[in-house]
Amino acid sequence: MTEPLAIAGTPRPFLKWVGGKRQLLPELERRVAQARPHGRYHEPFVGGGALFFDLYSRGELGRSKACLSDNNQRLIQAYWAVQEHVEEIIALLDSHRASHEKEFYYAMRAQVPEDPIERAARIIYLNRTCFNGLFRENSKGEFNVPMGRYKNPLICDAPNLRAVSRALQRCTIRHQSFAAVLETAKTDDLVYFDPPYAPVSKTANFTGYHKGVFGEELQRELADVFQELTKRGVKALLSNSDVPLIHALYKGHQIEVVRATRLVNSNASKRGKVNEVMVRNF
Ligand SMILES: C[S@@+](CC[C@H](N)C(=O)[O-])C[C@H]1O[C@@H](n2cnc3c(N)ncnc32)[C@H](O)[C@@H]1O
Repeated sequence: MTEPLAIAGTPRPFLKWVGGKRQLLPELERRVAQARPHGRYHEPFVGGGALFFDLYSRGELGRSKACLSDNNQRLIQAYWAVQEHVEEIIALLDSHRASHEKEFYYAMRAQVPEDPIERAARIIYLNRTCFNGLFRENSKGEFNVPMGRYKNPLICDAPNLRAVSRALQRCTIRHQSFAAVLETAKTDDLVYFDPPYAPVSKTANFTGYHKGVFGEELQRELADVFQELTKRGVKALLSNSDVPLIHALYKGHQIEVVRATRLVNSNASKRGKVNEVMVRNF
């Protein structure tokens, strides 16, 4: 991978995640600036955490701890491990880097270690070396992506992992579903929702993140959570696809259409510009 090394102390996502928001950051930053959050920052679909790391790096998060959560257990376990045990993870990744070749990749892919630190190092290693660079499990919770063809993958980005770990000291990280944000968000907090997107066509499967599908029922439940937060004076910002269902669910809130580069079908090599929406209640 040809990613730049992190500038010391400036964390970037340590995992490349499906639906990562890096390229929409300028649009998101502008809206966060308008929210002028005074309270805590919440990200209930954290994934790779592109916006969180960006806001942290720019010094735009308040003094209180940010709340990051996701219902993907493997992902959250990796966050906990990087938060608490970053040096052990770096040491393991250094050794994985030395061992990296085809046989080693497939051996790593085949077994999930019991130890949480080894498990986190395995996810980071596979994320850095697999085809397409996305740790994405199939509907049975299996990871069966073949090895990618990178000349010199950056398997152990120690400066970034240390910067990430420092940033995570300022966070509460939970494994939970999005509605739990109602238990913690208070007036003047800011919540950014980046859920699995509503499908743009019957064949497009944007929602198959891991076991289970984020269907219409969950999109409706999410819109109810958004509405409840609005009533409580919590600032909420959401990204989703530009489809009639989303326009209908968030009627009455500010809905803006933005252009984004996305995978346009299940073939990961095909990218194109698509419309997405940003909804906010401030
Ligand atoms: C679009 S991705 C978020 C991408 C993230 N913003 C980034 O920059 O990488 C959606 C995330 O929602 C999570 N997710 C799916 N269903 C969920 C649920 N019911 N509650 C919480 N998180 C969920 C997935 O595990 C995935 O990480």
